[in-house]
Amino acid sequence: MKDDLTGPALGGAQERWSEYPQEDLYNWIRNSQAMIAAGHPRAVEMWNKYKPTVMTSFPGFTDEDIASVLLFIDEQYNKVPAGPVVAAGGGATAPQDQPGKYIYFFLFAILAVVVSVLSRVIYNLRAMVAAEDGVDIPKQKSLLQMLTSKGVVGFLIFALVVFGGYTTVNNGVSFGRQQGYAPEQPVKFSHATHAGVQGIDCQYCHDGARRSKHASIPAANTCMNCHKAIEKGSTYGTQELTKIFASIGYDPSTDKYVENYDQLSNEEIKAIYTKWIGDSYMKDNELTSLDRKGERTVSEQWEGIESALTNDLKENIAGPIEWTRIHMLPDHVYFNHSQHVNIGKLACQQCHGKVEEMDLMYQYAPLSMGWCINCHRETEVKFTGNDYYNTYKQYHDAIAKGERTKVTVEDIGGLECQKCHY
Ligand code: HEC
Ligand code: HEC
Ligand code: HEC
Ligand code: HEC
Ligand code: HEC
Repeated sequence: MKDDLTGPALGGAQERWSEYPQEDLYNWIRNSQAMIAAGHPRAVEMWNKYKPTVMTSFPGFTDEDIASVLLFIDEQYNKVPAGPVVAAGGGATAPQDQPGKYIYFFLFAILAVVVSVLSRVIYNLRAMVAAEDGVDIPKQKSLLQMLTSKGVVGFLIFALVVFGGYTTVNNGVSFGRQQGYAPEQPVKFSHATHAGVQGIDCQYCHDGARRSKHASIPAANTCMNCHKAIEKGSTYGTQELTKIFASIGYDPSTDKYVENYDQLSNEEIKAIYTKWIGDSYMKDNELTSLDRKGERTVSEQWEGIESALTNDLKENIAGPIEWTRIHMLPDHVYFNHSQHVNIGKLACQQCHGKVEEMDLMYQYAPLSMGWCINCHRETEVKFTGNDYYNTYKQYHDAIAKGERTKVTVEDIGGLECQKCHY
């Protein structure tokens, strides 16, 4: 709205055209090239600035359509900047954070108080009865004496064995599994922003999911489809997006890819991007040279970028971003995305949770064998209208005759060991 990108900033367009009749701006939106050819001064001025990028024509737009678009732009442009969308839906909380479990401690504490009050009452009643009968009863034991009595110690040891055994077995079974794993990533990429707020389709980035075993992580080229135009972010400014540029060799100051980028030294690369960060800082703060704070910002940001793109094995800044892998089945398991996404028509969210609310990606499912098997037992395959299942003639016949109402993944062999194990 505010920055000139591939074309002039959208915000304030009407003011910039205010010296011409309204019709001119409408005609420009419908067919900018015609206006340039006709020599309209404002049209020619813009063409000279932004050529050879041609603005798409929209000959079908009615005056009403254009008025609504302009109204929308004005509203967006003039509205008070909203707070960061980060907190929406509390997506960042890892799944282990269940406040519910504390309720047990709370209940336990209440019960303990009730037990001690009741035992006091019972003792006093017994003492009163005994006094009436004229006999003495032994003094009530102190709390310490009660806690160290044989019964209590025996119970504690028993509880410890049961609890310890249970935890040991549980940890043994889930050894190597990492449900809830949520490592920091080199770039603060947020699924909540991209898949949630911006509504980008999962398969725009993970395009392997429908046609291959792996969903795959997008290369920086995919990011550049948008971030060539969005060079600064509303949350981190130049800090995070510059990591993409420095990995792939795009110079946002000139809007061009740097030639022979992978042959540059880290020092030469540093010069390109510290200039970009410094210039952006000066522009944002309306300065003509960097002040002390500016210099500190530039060096801090660059340190962050350099350390995100390099590590013990990768000394060059140029090269792919090394994302930390989260999901990882053991080598003896065969899992195929296209089988589930394309044939099984399952939504990503059934196995990965509400990804569109996650700021930091985490592993939602346990990825245990039981998890796969349970779903195969319960899930009905969508038999009708799916050519893949044409070969299951028997089942089709049985359904037609009314002998069978559904076919689960188990029925088509989803529990056979060799389907999932190499
Ligand atoms: C703009 C591109 C983009 C979109 C859209 C996107 N993702 Fe991602 N996804 C990534 C990147 C980059 C990573 C690696 C960084 C990370 O883990 O956050 C990733 C990581 C993941 C991972 C974890 C991979 C691992 O390491 O195990 C899963 C699962 C995932 N995405 C699922 C989804 C789902 C489901 C959607 C749609 C709701 C989606 N993604 C939309 C780019 C995208
Ligand atoms: C039936 C469950 C299931 C569905 C549905 C599913 N995934 Fe996965 N996904 C997995 C499992 C299991 C892994 C771990 C695979 C491995 O380690 O080999 C995984 C791994 C991933 C990864 C890590 C990289 C890779 O390919 O191994 C990404 C990214 C991912 N999934 C994205 C998606 C997206 C996007 C969709 C929807 C289009 C989707 N998944 C649908 C179960 C599923
Ligand atoms: C389809 C367009 C699109 C694609 C593809 C895309 N992004 Fe974005 N990205 C956006 C939009 C829109 C924003 C929000 C910009 C803002 O808030 O200023 C954004 C914001 C971000 C931010 C936060 C910037 C900030 O400071 O607020 C990061 C980091 C980011 N994207 C990284 C990536 C990475 C890494 C990829 C590739 C895996 C990618 N994006 C792919 C559209 C896209
Ligand atoms: C959310 C439910 C769900 C989960 C979880 C799931 N699957 Fe599936 N799976 C399906 C469905 C539905 C199909 C049927 C698609 C088809 O017909 O191929 C299927 C089919 C398969 C097939 C092909 C079976 C055949 O006979 O053609 C294999 C192999 C498979 N899954 C492996 C796995 C593994 C390994 C896991 C765990 C890591 C897993 N699945 C987790 C739902 C699931
Ligand atoms: C739907 C897919 C699926 C089917 C069918 C399946 N398994 Fe598994 N199996 C898995 C997955 C996933 C794991 C990995 C679990 C983990 O990492 O904890 C696994 C793990 C195992 C392990 C290793 C256990 C461990 O703790 O390391 C054995 C042994 C095994 N399976 C045997 C079998 C046998 C025998 C059958 C047939 C009766 C079978 N599996 C059928 C998915 C499957």
